[in-house]
Amino acid sequence: MYDYRGTTTLVTGASRGIGSACARALARRGSNLVLVARSAPALDRLAGEIRAEHPVNTLVLDADLADPAGPGTVADALRERHVSVDLLVNNAGTGSVGPFFGRPFEQSLRSVDVNVTGLMRMTRLIGADMLERGSGGIINVGSTAAFQPMPYQASYSGTKAFVLYFTEALAQELRGTGVRVMGAHPGATGTGFFDSTTAVMDPRVTDSPESVAERTLDDFARGRAASYPGRALHRWTTWVPRLLPRTAVTRAVAVVNRKAGFHEVQDVMSGPAS
Ligand SMILES: NC(=O)c1ccc[n+]([C@@H]2O[C@H](COP(=O)([O-])OP(=O)(O)OC[C@H]3O[C@@H](n4cnc5c(N)ncnc54)[C@H](OP(=O)(O)O)[C@@H]3O)[C@@H](O)[C@H]2O)c1
Repeated sequence: MYDYRGTTTLVTGASRGIGSACARALARRGSNLVLVARSAPALDRLAGEIRAEHPVNTLVLDADLADPAGPGTVADALRERHVSVDLLVNNAGTGSVGPFFGRPFEQSLRSVDVNVTGLMRMTRLIGADMLERGSGGIINVGSTAAFQPMPYQASYSGTKAFVLYFTEALAQELRGTGVRVMGAHPGATGTGFFDSTTAVMDPRVTDSPESVAERTLDDFARGRAASYPGRALHRWTTWVPRLLPRTAVTRAVAVVNRKAGFHEVQDVMSGPAS
């Protein structure tokens, strides 16, 4: 079992949602923390709350991981402070929901910049030190969206398919090096992920960010190669696409997502996309 006590974990996307739940769960387990996201005030607030409750060190680094320079500023700041990261949790993520041609293109591009390029840059920069030391761990937060194409979440499911393949391939490459890589694939989780759009998650099949965070960390501690931290139904939905023809599955997902209104999603603040 991996022992989190006295280790240092860097969590990206720690300002809210699954990332902030992960940070709190790690602090309870005794890990020191490096908290990364763009919202410095939210990170400072979280760090203050954690420090008041747990005897762990917290370092806040605000960075935009969609910016090609963002991950480098994080790595530089760690080096300047002589902070060595034992576990990297690549959790920061964003997604576009709605028809690809009916939503702002910028949102789709940003999901690639954060979920794919930012995650890869963080893995490369922080993972290189781990490899040199011959010890460390990386948890890449993917999604059950990775396991089938998802009409009306086309770019999001595409980015998560990348995370799935990249993570599983890297885990094999690093076998025997002392650096362990695990993919975590939550299903629908009650965070602000769809905030500012009319899209909503069905509360009947939505997990809490706290339970997703705890189960992800439990699975990593147990040495699992992959984590499905949501309810059994979410795990089950990752098996269906492996058994049926992909075209049939994709059509079925289109029906489900249209039923959920994803084909006519609008921004809550600014109205329909032009
Ligand atoms: N919620 C779900 O249903 C669900 C299901 C499966 C997988 N996931 C995955 O779980 C992860 C966390 O999602 P969540 O639901 O917790 O989302 P969330 O509540 O929207 O939080 C996203 C986090 O990512 C950070 N982030 C976004 N863009 C960033 C950027 N450019 N640079 C740095 N940080 C950035 C945000 O911080 P700032 O805005 O402060 O930068 C925030 O802390 C994502 O990878 C998501 O794809 C979520």
